Amino acid sequence: IDREAFREDLISWFTNEQRDLPWRKDQDPYKVWVSEIMLQQTRVDTVIPYFNRFIGKFPTIDALASADEEEILKAWEGLGYYSRVRNLQAAVREVRDSYGGIVPDDPKEIATLKGVGPYTAGAILSIAYGKPEPAVDGNVMRVFSRILSIWLDISKPSSRKVFEEAVRALISEENPSYFNQALMELGALICTPTSPSCLLCPVREHCHAFEEGVQSELPIKSKK
Ligand code: ADE
Repeated sequence: IDREAFREDLISWFTNEQRDLPWRKDQDPYKVWVSEIMLQQTRVDTVIPYFNRFIGKFPTIDALASADEEEILKAWEGLGYYSRVRNLQAAVREVRDSYGGIVPDDPKEIATLKGVGPYTAGAILSIAYGKPEPAVDGNVMRVFSRILSIWLDISKPSSRKVFEEAVRALISEENPSYFNQALMELGALICTPTSPSCLLCPVREHCHAFEEGVQSELPIKSKK
């Protein structure tokens, strides 16, 4: 794979074709964080109004840290997985109390925050801070399993590390934010779980699965 051409094709596509989403309006690490937590178990279309209302009510780390639990649960009502918002509040309190209200930009520090797993950490570090860190979720594993023709079972927890290293090897140092967001967007719009739109894909020239005609057989996923 020609790394430079791949990055260029991926990032140019994202620059032109990205959806206008409310969490893409600025690079505030707090807003990136809230959006990624909401998007973990919930679809983009559902998240949009919740994100806007939540940020309207709790626009800053301080506002969320000092809110009543009842109030935050009410703002989350309908999204489900309520431990997400409880963990988020515990974590922003930790940021307020131990990091002077600034979300840490260090991979080790950010990983200690409650509810911030490797995916969320990578998303915040790359999108808000421009750090070349992978942000690998199921969608990115699907995209990468096809591009590099990786026949690893993505339901196995051990697979994520392999994909993280694959992303690390290809990530743009110049624009890690767009690189990671472009992978998410490609997974959402083009490289979909069934019937991927390969003929519209900006990186199909680089895609090993497309070349071999095996895109519909990848990724391998043993359990749902
Ligand atoms: N899914 C997970 N993170 C996302 C993001 N930042 N934009 C769109 N879809 C996403």
